[in-house]
Amino acid sequence: MKPPGSLSAVTRRRAVAGMGVALCMPAVWRARADSLPVLRDLGAANGIEVGSAFSLDPDPKYRAVIARHCAVITPEWQMKPPQIKPDAESPYNFSIVDRFMEFAAQHRQAIHGHTLYWAHLPIDWAVGATFEETKRLYGGFIRTVAGRYRQVDTWDVLNELIDDDSWKLRTDYLVGQYGYDFIDFCLRTAREAAPHARLAVNDYWVECAAQLCEGKRAGVLDMLKRLKAMGSPLDALGIQSHLYSRMPIDPDATFGLINEAAGLGLESWISELDVNDSTLPADIAERDAQVADIYTRYLTGTLRHPAVTRVIFWGISDYYNWVLYDKEHWDQRPPETGDARPALFDTANDPKPAFYAVARVLAEARPR
Ligand code: XIL
Repeated sequence: MKPPGSLSAVTRRRAVAGMGVALCMPAVWRARADSLPVLRDLGAANGIEVGSAFSLDPDPKYRAVIARHCAVITPEWQMKPPQIKPDAESPYNFSIVDRFMEFAAQHRQAIHGHTLYWAHLPIDWAVGATFEETKRLYGGFIRTVAGRYRQVDTWDVLNELIDDDSWKLRTDYLVGQYGYDFIDFCLRTAREAAPHARLAVNDYWVECAAQLCEGKRAGVLDMLKRLKAMGSPLDALGIQSHLYSRMPIDPDATFGLINEAAGLGLESWISELDVNDSTLPADIAERDAQVADIYTRYLTGTLRHPAVTRVIFWGISDYYNWVLYDKEHWDQRPPETGDARPALFDTANDPKPAFYAVARVLAEARPR
């Protein structure tokens, strides 16, 4: 699987190294898997939907973790446009996505649809010679997919719109060509096709203290304001929240963005949360404690705002996690220092300190 181009771009970027944070893990809930606190219940008690990316891996213990702790699942890559219809000749292929719908129904889970537009994985067959033709083709795609999956009640309509360097709209693919008119068109078409669904634009690197994130926060906010001024149907901002030990987080600044978005009437969703531990020590106990601390500080800081109504992990376990399986991931641990441990459960699907940390933050979050 290829890593997203947007992420590989960071290798060329000045990133701030080191955390220097004193950490301690509280001894909360130590128990067997079936008597662990249930994250979806802890979240639900305070109005927060908890979920994970999922790829239908058959391992029973992993599936049990997903089933037990997640109120929402999101297909990790199976709903991206070229997966559903790669070219003009091939018919729509819904077979894999249909299996997600079955899994979710079986476990009383919501499905978060990700995504109807992503410049990193374009569908060139939906690009017409004129804007009118493009609207017919791309609109047909949105209507077909969003119209088929009425169970999907939240959508990332457009993914990763703000450029890492200019902090303005990206200049490639259809948003590059038609700008806000195209974004507005996608949102309106999704609204028509799925009037019951809440619609989001989803972006990244608005979570850290570096200037890069500061710029992207400003760019994202500017985009939200413009869309609101256009009357585009938009309900939420997705904040991906791929956190990196090498790019220290700034939860207060992220809170600031959430607050501004809330002022525009938008919810904020933590949509792809993980903690990349590439610069943390090899010692596992120490590393796990530091990862747990990053989760705690980030979630405590952002969940202070009642507009944050969901937390989705990317994904919930090291057993199946893109930071580990994506060998081209831009931010790898140095050789001989052990595999990354980015998630709440380890590769055997047993809970790590991060699990208990997140459980505690969810339990203590202010109700919304
Ligand atoms: C990643 C998936 O985890 C991988 O399986 C796939 O190869 C590439 O995409 N931002 C996003 C997600 O919006 O779709 C990306 O998911 C991670 C970064």
